[in-house]
Amino acid sequence: MSTRPRIYLDHAATSWPKSAAVIDAMHDYVQGCGAAAGRGAYHAAAEADGIVSTVRRDVAALIHAADSGCISFHSNGTTALNAAIHGLLRAGDHVVASAAEHNSVLRPLHDLREQQKIQLTIVPVDRQGVVDAANLLAAVTSATKLVALTHASNVTGAIQPVEAVAEGMRHCSGKLLVDAAQTFGIREIDVSIGIDLLAAPGHKASGGPLGTAFLYVEPEIHDEILPLFQGGTGSRSESLAMPASMPAKMEAGNLNVHALAGWAAALRELREVGVERRKETSLELSRLMHEGLALLPHVRVLGKPEALPTASIMIDDLSPADAAAILDAEFGVETRAGWHCAALIHGYLGSESEGTLRISAGHTTTAEEIAKAVASIGQVVRTLHSH
Ligand SMILES: Cc1ncc(COP(=O)(O)O)c(C=O)c1O
Repeated sequence: MSTRPRIYLDHAATSWPKSAAVIDAMHDYVQGCGAAAGRGAYHAAAEADGIVSTVRRDVAALIHAADSGCISFHSNGTTALNAAIHGLLRAGDHVVASAAEHNSVLRPLHDLREQQKIQLTIVPVDRQGVVDAANLLAAVTSATKLVALTHASNVTGAIQPVEAVAEGMRHCSGKLLVDAAQTFGIREIDVSIGIDLLAAPGHKASGGPLGTAFLYVEPEIHDEILPLFQGGTGSRSESLAMPASMPAKMEAGNLNVHALAGWAAALRELREVGVERRKETSLELSRLMHEGLALLPHVRVLGKPEALPTASIMIDDLSPADAAAILDAEFGVETRAGWHCAALIHGYLGSESEGTLRISAGHTTTAEEIAKAVASIGQVVRTLHSH
């Protein structure tokens, strides 16, 4: 591994560094336990079961789910969202989604539409990347089975009107799927406001390792949702049919227990600090980032300061890819360039030709790192435009 100094500002992709407690928990599990969960009855297997149920309980508590049985584990946010989308939709359904969605929502929906299985309405966003709740609700009809809305854009950090949409859908038969990839761990989430399905990876703001994610499924749809995969679950092995109950029906195959052990440690730390405190840290980093960037000539900031410490920028006469390469090579500032797996939002932001340069911080980022990153971008711009 490289030991050169790094200013890591790609937290919207995955958080880094992971805490010592997370690393220790994974190490301890691999070295001292190593058993599969949900299968054996020996002591170490019970320990693995304990890790899994601890994470399930902690995730359920964080999103105010009535029961930890509503939480299934998946290998990343994408597979959790696919489990929700493919598990719930049937031929002939209508789906509404915002243009701010990540490709892990847009691509499965696009594919289902291409196969003529569903009808899809995409609702535009404004220049900040925010969808209007009234517009989204106006697209919902009696045939709408699913409304997909991201809690926050991974491109601009813009928070979407989830509460207003949940309220507006209270008397609809359609279900609300919220993608909380960018907010789980730094913003309060309460599924009891009317969220039917909610998916999030564990490896972003909540501080867990890669290979972790969950899907919340509201009890009323436990029977209706179908598993994406079939296979061993460690239960009712004499039967050819998958278990009918959550979460086992959604969890064919062995769980990634060593990653879950790390996530358990991250969630313990999150509980001790509190989501509210992490949110305050994020707000402060967002303010510093946006204030600094706003002062730079030749830099256009897309979106506005939000609770998420994420900013997307465009630099006059410099492609996002070149800017990211220079920042990395000359300053050790690690950002991300391009479309950020969000195919549609750029058409509304004006960044469709080359995407953006995204700077995203996390709770481990310091004010000094933000200042250095902004100064580095300033230097790149000055060098470019002084000729
Ligand atoms: C808004 C959003 N949704 C879904 C995902 C997919 O998560 P994962 O990378 O864990 O598959 C991401 C990841 O960047 C995201 O930002």
